[in-house]
Amino acid sequence: MDARLLHVSDLHVGAHQQRDAEQALARLVERLEPQLVVASGDLAHRGRSQQLERAAEFLRSLGPPVLAVPGNHDLPYAWTRFVRPWTEFERIWETTEPTASAPRLHVVGLNSVRPFRHQGGAVSNAQLERAAERLGAAVPGALRVAVLHHHLIGAPWRAARKRPVSRRNRVLGTLVDAGADLILAGHIHQAAVSERHEFEVVGDEARAAVVAIAPGLGQPRPRRLGEARGLHIHEADADAIVVRTFRWAHGDWTLGAERRFLRS
Ligand SMILES: [Fe+2]
Ligand SMILES: [Fe+2]
Repeated sequence: MDARLLHVSDLHVGAHQQRDAEQALARLVERLEPQLVVASGDLAHRGRSQQLERAAEFLRSLGPPVLAVPGNHDLPYAWTRFVRPWTEFERIWETTEPTASAPRLHVVGLNSVRPFRHQGGAVSNAQLERAAERLGAAVPGALRVAVLHHHLIGAPWRAARKRPVSRRNRVLGTLVDAGADLILAGHIHQAAVSERHEFEVVGDEARAAVVAIAPGLGQPRPRRLGEARGLHIHEADADAIVVRTFRWAHGDWTLGAERRFLRS
């Protein structure tokens, strides 16, 4: 495979102890050697500096470069969320909309969090335009990936309380038109993986684009049955994108599913 990335989401650092899961993830990274770690938000549980720092420290300790975008839980739980929502996040990660390139891989992050809404997310036209430009800067042949926190597709039984990103058809259409092969998100703490032709009529000629929502790496509400714990490994070559779902089982990240999407 030409490109390999680890996608984690919803760590919710500060909500609970997760040393065993963190150690198991370090072992998985050592074994699979992803070129990049992508973290799609809710790194912290209450947006506290200490929690954000601890999350960054853990993600960076894994070894590969890390690309992180914020989730709604990364906003401060104080009035500052309305005036300086991203001071801490930017201090640690420099930006809420990063771009990262690795061999055969080009990843563009978008900030879908809105300080005035707790659950719902949105992406403005200006953000989409910038993301399209950044996707266009990929070297030919690289897997082009877009990342945001709020989901574009739902898991089969997620409660309606968590709605997909606003104007999701426009968000999806713009990113795919700009060349995105793979679109990653989190927020619902459940896995959902699909190729665009499976849920939308876009014509036989349209390129394949895979949308993948990662389950939560953390489990901040252990009694909520509709929240699974897991992560994704994405691999791609010229022929296919392969998504492997690992879930937390038997005290380790355990492979549960492998989905292969043909690209032509
Ligand atoms: Fe979350
Ligand atoms: Fe979230």
